Amino acid sequence: MTTEEQRTEGPAKPQPSVYEQLLAYGRERGYKLDWLRPAVMPSRDLTVDLEHGGLLLQDADFGPFAEAPEWSDNMTGRPRGAASRANTPRVGNYALRTKADIWLKNAAQLYEEAVQRQWSSAVDIPWETLEELPDEIERAECQLATFLTEVEFVAGDVPGKWISETTPDYYEPRMFLISQVMDEARHLDVFRKRTLANGGGLMLQTPAGVAGGEIDRARDFTEMSARLHISGEGVVLSLFRMGERMSYNDAEKAIYRLAASDESRHVAFGVMHLQYVAQTDPERREEIHSYLDEIEVGMAAGIGVQNPAARGFAASEALRVLLGGGADPASIAEGERIALAVRQRQVKEYVQRVKVAGLGERFENGRAHPNLMEYVRG
Ligand SMILES: [Fe+2]
Ligand SMILES: [Fe+2]
Repeated sequence: MTTEEQRTEGPAKPQPSVYEQLLAYGRERGYKLDWLRPAVMPSRDLTVDLEHGGLLLQDADFGPFAEAPEWSDNMTGRPRGAASRANTPRVGNYALRTKADIWLKNAAQLYEEAVQRQWSSAVDIPWETLEELPDEIERAECQLATFLTEVEFVAGDVPGKWISETTPDYYEPRMFLISQVMDEARHLDVFRKRTLANGGGLMLQTPAGVAGGEIDRARDFTEMSARLHISGEGVVLSLFRMGERMSYNDAEKAIYRLAASDESRHVAFGVMHLQYVAQTDPERREEIHSYLDEIEVGMAAGIGVQNPAARGFAASEALRVLLGGGADPASIAEGERIALAVRQRQVKEYVQRVKVAGLGERFENGRAHPNLMEYVRG
């Protein structure tokens, strides 16, 4: 239908849109407003459920903004989904620009969980429950906590150097790594406080230095993740989960419980990343299996300076004193028996993680280290 006016005056001229009016307004005054380009967005209902975490990143991000490209040519720090601007200088020559380099399905969820579960070593640990302990127990606590202070530094330091190597188009895993660095700083500080809070202090450094290990030398993110998240943090998580066995007060129990909650998130990141690589980049499966081969040699032999439940260095001797309840031979023997149970748990949980990552065929086809399977059966 036509209106009376159109019948008499011909077709009506289309009115300029608000955007066009704004552009004209700017032009008249000598400045550009073309960055006001209207975004084309599908309408949607966004429900914010405060009972279940509020407005979460994975719910807020949508449509074209949520699409992480398979390959990124973003060298300018442009936020994913933002319009690019001509002549922007490069700010990064990112090494990680292919999705399978670093991606996982649930990085935003893990990041949001990290934000929600931050805690403070200053006020969330009941330090007042620390009481004077027998000298050999206090020494052992301080030695184990010295080792953990050293380990936690590595666990923050190593992923930290990959953050600036990652394109902003993969911001979810990037932000997760930032949250991990914060978590590890807190772990470092809580174990340092434990060495100092009950009359002891920092003790012997780990031989050869934990930081000198393969984790730190990895030149590929997936390799680093397998060695750090699956192996290093995996064995520490299994140990923390048995924290009640090596605690002598509620403060130590709280430290292990809260640290385990963070570590389970870091391990989950590694498992989900390996799963993504195994599914989307099958040519890398053999390479990943070769990292697992190396990891299993240490686990099967019960050696390795990342794992106090293994043998042969100050922190592992301290762990046996704590588990056995003293430094006399009978207590040490009891501590060794419980340390073996810790190693069994570490191996069983490692096997489960590798299966979830979609690489469990190694436990069926004979590739897994034979001694490792003895632990699982034990
Ligand atoms: Fe940690
Ligand atoms: Fe960690």
